[in-house]
Amino acid sequence: MESRDLDGAVRVQVPGKVNLALAVSPRREDGYHELVTVFMAVSLYDVVTATPARRGRLTVEVSGEGADQVPLDMSNLALKAAALLRARYGDEELGVHLSIEKRIPVAGGMAGGSADAAAALLACSVLWGLELPASALYELAAELGSDVPFALMGGCALGTGRGEQLAPALCRGSYDWVFALAPRGLSTAAVFADFDRFSAGTTTPRTVVDELLTGLASHDLDVIRDAMCNDLTRAAVRLYPGILTTLEDGLDHGGVASIVSGSGPTVAFLCADTDDAVDLAVGLSTFPEVRAVHRAHGPVPGARVLSNS
Ligand code: C5P
Repeated sequence: MESRDLDGAVRVQVPGKVNLALAVSPRREDGYHELVTVFMAVSLYDVVTATPARRGRLTVEVSGEGADQVPLDMSNLALKAAALLRARYGDEELGVHLSIEKRIPVAGGMAGGSADAAAALLACSVLWGLELPASALYELAAELGSDVPFALMGGCALGTGRGEQLAPALCRGSYDWVFALAPRGLSTAAVFADFDRFSAGTTTPRTVVDELLTGLASHDLDVIRDAMCNDLTRAAVRLYPGILTTLEDGLDHGGVASIVSGSGPTVAFLCADTDDAVDLAVGLSTFPEVRAVHRAHGPVPGARVLSNS
């Protein structure tokens, strides 16, 4: 799984995710919400390259999709990941420069920041020769954010707790997706706060999530379509009304089902096959509220070290 560049750089590829089910319980005392969710990792990847830096310096640069919206100070989740890893398992002389190439939309509901944190954990652990067991990385991942463990794991998984407790889900075959990106992002915290104002918690019965898992295990698109659900949809639409047209009218151009991805505003379309996905992508690109369209497939593996570059 691990490899290291000749000049000491470690490149890690990490996928974005879509939640096919997202059932949200009322806010807990710690401010988080208990979730029952089904994650799928999709082939929209960020790449994080870690190179050694002297005297304990931790720095980051970002290029690609939405790079100008990503902070470069210690509020950057990938830098926080490097700092946490070093504090727990390294020494203060260890430094790193992280270079993040973004394709996962920033603040798009596809866990892009979490993905970069997962990639940074893996890249720095290899760069610094820490030789940690996977369980240690998962523990740090859960401290960094609710979606970070899934970005390490990838595939398809049932998430509980605040989303950080994972069990692999059986998933037969591959699924075609089209993602319609919105012109601006949404803050996950703001979407959850709006959910709190207008909702007393999930109305999605657990049986719906179980149906979804059954559909994924048998690759039954009808069952999956009927069970896809996201309790954050109304909050995301209230904060970003423009995505309602994409959600509803997008299906006129093809696709089996549409859903707000996580806390939005990206809208995800499940398609029957690649041809349908191509047609839908062309149709969506004419929508005024759609900034960009990406096709992807899933499930794909979680964060992994690329071959030497
Ligand atoms: O865990 P993470 O830091 O990625 O979450 C970002 C924000 O999303 C949290 O500060 C919280 O407001 C909200 N959140 C939540 N319940 C969850 C996950 C996230 O309320 N289960």
